[in-house]
Amino acid sequence: MGIYTIAITGASGSAYGVRLLQYFLKNRHKVFLIITNEGSLILKEEVGYDWSGSGKGVEKKIKKDLKIEKGSLSLLSEDNLCAPISSGSAQVDAMIIIPCSMKTLSGIAHGYANNLVERSADVMIKEGRPLILVPRETPLNSIHLKNMLTLSEMGIKIIPPMPAFYSHPQSIEDIVDFIVGKVLDSMQIENNLYKRWGTK
Ligand SMILES: Cc1cc2nc3c(=O)[nH]c(=O)nc-3n(C[C@H](O)[C@H](O)[C@H](O)COP(=O)(O)O)c2cc1C
Repeated sequence: MGIYTIAITGASGSAYGVRLLQYFLKNRHKVFLIITNEGSLILKEEVGYDWSGSGKGVEKKIKKDLKIEKGSLSLLSEDNLCAPISSGSAQVDAMIIIPCSMKTLSGIAHGYANNLVERSADVMIKEGRPLILVPRETPLNSIHLKNMLTLSEMGIKIIPPMPAFYSHPQSIEDIVDFIVGKVLDSMQIENNLYKRWGTK
């Protein structure tokens, strides 16, 4: 059983974060979840779940929407810089920002640490722990690319949500599962969320 931080920020593609959250909770991992203000607006628009706010009531709603009875979920506000994951003393196995906006990407690349997403990411970097970003924007400008390079050179995994088509996706779910499967692969978490090349 692992302990993971998932951040859903204000980029298109909240479905990726939702699927990863569901996968972790179903597999009995502990999850700290941060949804930024912009992230929760886009999540509601794209996926239809209203997960705005914080507290036990919203945690219950998330589990209900995901049809998960058990599972350890701790929902944290982006403004809560006193949360456990704001400190290197918290034991977090990996942090995944999925989807990651260009604004959050920039904040992390420059050590801005202005909210709990940026601060927790900063902590993962300073502690030498796995940090995975799923950045989403198109087209990408030189600022975005430079920020990604800065982070990649420090060992941060950059996994843009670019689906492959050799697995012949039949639905949006198949495309989402391909990306989430690649994120899990990058953490060496065994999964069969997508059809691997060369398998039947
Ligand atoms: C509908 C909508 C879609 C957006 N999609 C993206 C996107 O794909 N990538 C991105 O970098 N920003 C996108 N943005 C802009 C970000 O939400 C904005 O920069 C915000 O400040 C990001 O804040 P956050 O990273 O704290 O969530 C979008 C905004 C809206 C309203």
